Amino acid sequence: MAIPDSFLDELVGRTDITELVGGYVKLTKRSGGNIFGLCPFHSEKTPSLAVNSDKQIYYCFGCGKGGGAINFIMEIDNVSFRDAVEILARRAGMTVPESGTSDEIAAKRRRILELNRDAARFYHELLSSKLAYEARDYLAKRRISKSIATRFGIGAAPDAWSMLLDTMTKRGYTRQELIDAGLARSSRNENGFYDVFRNRIMFPVIDVRGGVIGFSGRILGDGEPKYLNSPDTLVFNKSRNLFALNLAKKTKSGMLILAEGNIDVVALHQAGFDCSVASLGTALTSDQARLMARYTEKAVLAFDSDEAGRRATLRAIPLLEKTGMTVKVINMGESKDPDEFLEKHGADAFRVLIERSENHIEYKLHEIRNRFDLTLDEGRLSYLTSATELISELLSEPEREIYGARVAREAGISPESVKNEVQKKLKSKTARQKRDFEKQVTRPAVTIQPDDRSLKYTNEGSAVAEEGIIRCLVRDPALMRAIIDKGFSREEFTSPYLAKVYDTVSRRITEGRDTGEALIMSELEANEASRLAVILQRPESLPHSEKAMHEYIEKIRTEKLKTGDPDMDKLMEIKRFKQGPGMGD
Ligand code: CTP
Ligand code: MN
Repeated sequence: MAIPDSFLDELVGRTDITELVGGYVKLTKRSGGNIFGLCPFHSEKTPSLAVNSDKQIYYCFGCGKGGGAINFIMEIDNVSFRDAVEILARRAGMTVPESGTSDEIAAKRRRILELNRDAARFYHELLSSKLAYEARDYLAKRRISKSIATRFGIGAAPDAWSMLLDTMTKRGYTRQELIDAGLARSSRNENGFYDVFRNRIMFPVIDVRGGVIGFSGRILGDGEPKYLNSPDTLVFNKSRNLFALNLAKKTKSGMLILAEGNIDVVALHQAGFDCSVASLGTALTSDQARLMARYTEKAVLAFDSDEAGRRATLRAIPLLEKTGMTVKVINMGESKDPDEFLEKHGADAFRVLIERSENHIEYKLHEIRNRFDLTLDEGRLSYLTSATELISELLSEPEREIYGARVAREAGISPESVKNEVQKKLKSKTARQKRDFEKQVTRPAVTIQPDDRSLKYTNEGSAVAEEGIIRCLVRDPALMRAIIDKGFSREEFTSPYLAKVYDTVSRRITEGRDTGEALIMSELEANEASRLAVILQRPESLPHSEKAMHEYIEKIRTEKLKTGDPDMDKLMEIKRFKQGPGMGD
């Protein structure tokens, strides 16, 4: 009996690879996005097993083993796929569905949504009760009116261990259901159970269909953690949802404002900016960016003005841009966040801020400018170097022109010399890219062949491009378009292994499912997953992946012509035959 995909995705999503591997291996050294430890699959003295928490995969630079959570358990416990899933499920407090499965999961989801709705009601009603005077005081202090609190369904979690649990079990929900909804937890030692959210302001997270999928609980006043979000459940994944999108999707303003804190979002809505949303604590993810792009073409970033907020802004810009949205950044000056700005200056002033918001290039130039002292020659030179670097990355000539002129003005340098500088950088960049790409595609390194002989590539030249297609697709599923546009089909893969990986990835994309590395690997055999880890490690040398995609497809097709495809030969023969004697030659 097959385990439903949705369950596997959920399971892998709920498992943290660093924690999982960390249970078997002491992870010590951090480097880049990886944390290293001694590889359990071969003997070694210096750590070469890398665990990457962004990608949720592991990879050993020594022995080449790699994969996601399921692969890891299969490998280390030497168990079947099914057993590895059982082990991980037990660990995550999930039950592997028996037969009749997808119906059962659907029923379970509905039940969690019902429970969440009842819990939201419970929290909201409690807010008006005498138990919640502190929460009411806090909201009043933050100038959140009663009516806006009602619009958002804001509530209060009581300062008690199991009030929600007791109330909901009396209403017929089981403890397990409360645990599955992320509302209750079992305590480690005894047989006790307790509420996850206690003594917090409760913000229900409601999806665009109106379902209460989870909660963010904010502490009253200061303390850690400031926000506690529901854990991932069958209906909730915080990296794939946005707070207040259920309201903001109805906006007529033609944009979405993205803020950091739930309080900021509530304050913005209260001031009339009904297009405001927040990512749920995690830095903006590409899934969230794509979600925003479904509702608007314009994203306005209004993260906090502190260092963390600025860094988050710089990281969010390319993710949002990649979806095709135009991106603007609000500069709140001295105010630390939208809430504080609104309190000090009011809604009209914020409207002006939106009008004056900088586009992403201006924002980045601004960031660079702040790093240097432009009154010194030295500072101006350094500014010129960094700024022209940025400008040379712009794709359009007029953009380079406009921002080049601005930099010239600011650095007190002639526009011509800025232009020259940009041209120089542009040239060397293109040359470098071309070189890298050619190296990658036309002269595959000797190491292109998989270590595992059973995956051997018959046409190395084509295989490099086939690997490239997979790498691009995993990084940016939107590139599926480029493949369709080119009329490329999976039959054009020369490596059966890569065709299989492609099938897995493309099926996930067309079904609108996650294309996380670990998830894809969970559908592959150990040797296949390990090889995929190698493929995905390679840097993509062409920055504009649509272009890369086209080049890869071209490459596969020229390789095919070069090697004289047997099917093609047959086809030609048949054609000649059909034309009849006397017509050919
Ligand atoms: N955060 C979170 N989960 C949420 C919302 C926010 O983990 N559901 C995180 C954000 O990533 C941010 C921090 O919590 O780093 C708080 O954001 P902030 O804007 O400071 O929250 P506010 O409630 O607006 O707090 P303050 O009163 O300080 O403005
Ligand atoms: Mn704030």
